[in-house]
Amino acid sequence: MTSIPLSAYGAEIYFRGLAGERPALPTDPAELEALARERLEPGPFGYVAGGAGGGATMRANRAAFDEVALVPRMLRDTTARDWSTTVLGTAMPAPLLLAPVGVLSIMHTDGELAVARAAAELGVPMVLSTAASHTLEEVAQASGDGPRWYQLYWPTDDAVTASLLARARAAGYSVLVVTLDTWTLGWRPLDLDQAYLPFLRGVGTAIPFSDPAFRAGLAAAPEDDLMAAVGRWVPMFTGTALRWDRLDVLRRNWDGPIVLKGIQHPDDAVAAIEAGMDGIIVSNHGGRQVDRAVGALTTLPSIVAAVAGRVPVLFDSGVRTGADAAVALACGADAVLLGRPYVYGLGLAGADGVRHVVRSVLAELDLTLALSGYADLATLRETTDAVHRR
Ligand code: FNR
Repeated sequence: MTSIPLSAYGAEIYFRGLAGERPALPTDPAELEALARERLEPGPFGYVAGGAGGGATMRANRAAFDEVALVPRMLRDTTARDWSTTVLGTAMPAPLLLAPVGVLSIMHTDGELAVARAAAELGVPMVLSTAASHTLEEVAQASGDGPRWYQLYWPTDDAVTASLLARARAAGYSVLVVTLDTWTLGWRPLDLDQAYLPFLRGVGTAIPFSDPAFRAGLAAAPEDDLMAAVGRWVPMFTGTALRWDRLDVLRRNWDGPIVLKGIQHPDDAVAAIEAGMDGIIVSNHGGRQVDRAVGALTTLPSIVAAVAGRVPVLFDSGVRTGADAAVALACGADAVLLGRPYVYGLGLAGADGVRHVVRSVLAELDLTLALSGYADLATLRETTDAVHRR
């Protein structure tokens, strides 16, 4: 059992209040987003906050949470609690990871390095995006002994894929996450209306641009001819030719667990298992890809049922609070990924902001489950009537 509950962050805030201190950032996620809108430049803020089309999928992600509710139980003694778990060999203090988010230098100059430091300090796994603004190796160094996974945007050139995966393995990333839903960018009005796409300026390209196999195909280094490098990068990461039967390329080049991200249909979850994959992430990329798509949480129970415990099922898209995370876990997710909220924390206060947001989510997750009558994940998983569907 963990001796200090994750909810101790709340007590810390109240006790500091006795000395006149207030948290530097809000704990309410809507207030956090509002502050980010106020303080950040419109381009970067829009890139993070925006979604595909009219935003219906983003709204559906949130609305899906309103369709499911916890049913708290009483007098069960949840004083001593332990939310620690191990997913695909990675131990974590609670079933929470930081979702892969690209181009974090548009939020803060330290970008992914700040996220890596905060995550490592809390023991929370970070999933590093291929679209990062720092290299795999730099982020690994900032992460130190912290748990880290690598998210691949799957290049169409197998030599580049092999090289990226070899680098990730050498730099201590233990699980490979392959994002399937973004083989090309969705239609994003906030970015279009500002003509804002950082990649075209060589921002968010640190990983491919530092890659020997990628550079081998260039007449001049990206430092000397940026547009030529961008011109090689864009089509290489626009993978229309990738299909289920190509997953063996990944398996041949990665000897650890592989997780497919962006699964939204039970048949695709089953196909992932049949293809020998080790896990899936139910996600619609935070509503950034397909507008008018189903809310991610709506799809979770049928996918959990189809998977039937054969591989871990992770979840993201729409998680804003610890209570949201608790609901996703009660619906059968093995772990939850936090996205936009930690990115706003980064934009507003660097590593301190990430730490504040993640600690807030962990604290509320702990309190929500404890007050609902649970002291560990095993009990939550055994409970068949933990949630009520409206
Ligand atoms: C993302 N996401 C994402 N996913 C991924 O696999 N690789 C990436 O590089 C990115 N980049 C990215 C940038 C920004 C600004 C956002 C907001 C999201 C998707 C991310 O991993 C996750 O699926 C969503 O953030 C979940 O939605 P919410 O909960 O943040 O709304």
